Amino acid sequence: MSLMNDDVADLLAEHLRAGTTEMSDTDLRVPISHFVSEERAAAERELMTRLPVIIGHASELPLRGGFLTREVLGVPLIVVRKAGGGIGGYLNICRHRGGQVESEARGTKRIFSCRYHGWSYGRDDGRLRGVPYDDFYTHVDKERHGLHAIRVEERHGFLFADLSGRQDWDIDDWLGPEVDAQLAPYGLDGAEIFLDRSFTLDINWKIVLDGAIDVLHPMFLHPHGVGKLIETNTSVWRRYGRHGQSFSPRTRMGEKARAGEEVDASFRYMGSNLVLYPNSMVISTPDHVEFWTVWPDLHTPGRSTTQIRFLVRPEKRDERVEARMHRSWEILEQAATDEDWPMERTIQRNAEAHPHGTFLYGRNEQSCQHLHRELAADLGD
Ligand code: FES
Ligand SMILES: [Fe+2]
Repeated sequence: MSLMNDDVADLLAEHLRAGTTEMSDTDLRVPISHFVSEERAAAERELMTRLPVIIGHASELPLRGGFLTREVLGVPLIVVRKAGGGIGGYLNICRHRGGQVESEARGTKRIFSCRYHGWSYGRDDGRLRGVPYDDFYTHVDKERHGLHAIRVEERHGFLFADLSGRQDWDIDDWLGPEVDAQLAPYGLDGAEIFLDRSFTLDINWKIVLDGAIDVLHPMFLHPHGVGKLIETNTSVWRRYGRHGQSFSPRTRMGEKARAGEEVDASFRYMGSNLVLYPNSMVISTPDHVEFWTVWPDLHTPGRSTTQIRFLVRPEKRDERVEARMHRSWEILEQAATDEDWPMERTIQRNAEAHPHGTFLYGRNEQSCQHLHRELAADLGD
């Protein structure tokens, strides 16, 4: 990390010395109705079924022959680790009359059997294997009645899924070389989940994500916490295709840079926030990686579920690191539950009370601008 982003560190130091920040060409206005409208919310959910979204982490399926079931954006999934080690996925929907095929949350199986009338399917190919009383059907073509397959691709330990079962994206094209290069040093494919918390909040998912990637608020909303550690309103944004990364200096970098001293890209001096469009982000720390995914609610535009996980390499994990991760979680949870989410809740309530006009994202708010520009490009508005 440190060598790779040295140019960013130099740029941040220049901005800190000059009291400036990197900026985009224009500011951006986003209709407030986008945070409360049911039509818009439905369009965003539909969009997410067509994009590669992260539905889990490889460490949740460590064993060959293992499976897990999960509902993502209302789509019931069975995700499997095949005998050969590869990942696969199916809709957890029986081809007989639509029952849930697998009800366990996770386990190891070669065959999934529907409990309603006993139709069974192979784990590795989803193929229909067994049909009890098959004389009573005119003809059931086993080749054509397998579980509906969905593609799941594993990169850096993240499981990316095509929930529509119809898209032909390529995961390497989707992520691109820069995201690859930024994630590679963390070795996340071998990481474990140290902590996994979910919060369902009465806030539109984009407001939660905006708040998590916002570089303009620490000093104001967190004056006694992160506002003391991170410089407000000096940042560098790097766009990586559909994704991007904001880099923020720590106050220690500000002190050094303003004193004309050398700084570098190490964690002592700067932090970063990698936005994986559409709804995830990765914050790296010296010990662990903080990984957020924010899911829109299925019915209510003003509701979402935020899942925060800490990922850590097993060989890095010892008592001291665990104590630091617990402490880091306490600080994060306190800031989120006492400061960020209550503020975001007022934004949601205000948007519902007065859904007219626009929200304004300044030239210095590039990470938030990126999210809304990409959504606008995908949804054609
Ligand atoms: S619905 Fe699954 S076997 Fe009938
Ligand atoms: Fe915050």
